[in-house]
Amino acid sequence: MWCSRERLLVLVVLGLWATCLHVAEGGTKLPLNGLVLHYYRKNTQCTKAEKLITGAVRKAWAKDRSITPALLRLVYSDCFVRGCDASILLDGEGSEKEAPQNAGLRGFDVVDSIKHELESKCPGVVSCADILHLATRDAVALAGGWKYPVFTGRRDGYESDAKMVDLPPPSVSWDDALSYFKSRGLDVLDLGTLLGAHTLGVTHCRYVHDRIYNFNDTGLPDDLMDCRFARQLAKTCPYRYPPGQPDPTVFLNPRSGGNFTFESSYYSRVLDNQAVLGIDQQLVTSKDGVRIASEFAYEFDDFKRYFALAISRMGSVGVLTGSQGEIRRSCRFTNAHNPKSK
Ligand SMILES: *[C@@H]1O[C@H](CO)[C@@H](O)[C@H](O)[C@H]1NC(C)=O
Ligand SMILES: *[C@@H]1O[C@H](CO)[C@@H](O)[C@H](O)[C@H]1NC(C)=O
Repeated sequence: MWCSRERLLVLVVLGLWATCLHVAEGGTKLPLNGLVLHYYRKNTQCTKAEKLITGAVRKAWAKDRSITPALLRLVYSDCFVRGCDASILLDGEGSEKEAPQNAGLRGFDVVDSIKHELESKCPGVVSCADILHLATRDAVALAGGWKYPVFTGRRDGYESDAKMVDLPPPSVSWDDALSYFKSRGLDVLDLGTLLGAHTLGVTHCRYVHDRIYNFNDTGLPDDLMDCRFARQLAKTCPYRYPPGQPDPTVFLNPRSGGNFTFESSYYSRVLDNQAVLGIDQQLVTSKDGVRIASEFAYEFDDFKRYFALAISRMGSVGVLTGSQGEIRRSCRFTNAHNPKSK
């Protein structure tokens, strides 16, 4: 395989990174959009909602640790399309979950079982949108992240349309990814931080194939990929598979993947040109991205703190509150279309 020359990492002074992030933090506000802390404990009879969710997630996690990346992907797919209104959870022909970008989404069963339990204890109170965010927070904490506060009071939307799904592909360029985040009111630090979720989970070879063999239609590998790593990936992801063979999976972070834990190694691998997905490696194509990756590779606690902030910011995008939307009885159907209530 063709190999590019080794790239030298330009090292920047640590203090500088801290200052830059500090400045960014000063400018980073939490748009709550009507959400509050402990909405269910303070404003409803369902005072134990958060505790109940935590218990359910702990059980699910003990059985299958991959629910952390599964829930993170669900939250992302939900919030960027129509806002955090649980539209991703709705079943039905042409709903968001049927869009090609959402192929392989998982975790619906965990959300369903939490919803089922909550409906039996306090019917019609806790929204599916909030369940998704609270469950994700608990799953992140179990995977070694920070148990951040989740602002709650979201209500569920009525619509879900696959045609509205505009989530970018994993090969998106840094500039396009950043414009996409900006279109939702998020910024470069949110992008650089939320990409850190790729310390967990797996992807399929088809999303990496272009980087190994034909990057951006150049006929060459991505020259931002360490060539030894490319060779290693090529073993799992050959140029052609025998027909009928399923598309193999690779860990998004081969170092921590099997443990399903948050690790700083995601960012050090990006800096070493050993990221798996194109968008992850794109971090090093911008000055801000390099700063963010360097800071988080060395100061892992900062990553956890910013991750909490960034996911809260994402969690307030386009939320429905007050008398908007409804509280679904089943996360898969709006109340008007719930077969059980007919
Ligand atoms: C791929 O090429 C196009 C056109 O030359 C360019 O606009 C885009 O940024 C490139 N993408 C990446 C990930 O480099
Ligand atoms: C899991 O974590 C242990 C201890 O941190 C580490 O030694 C090991 O390499 C990790 N394994 C995988 C597959 O992530």
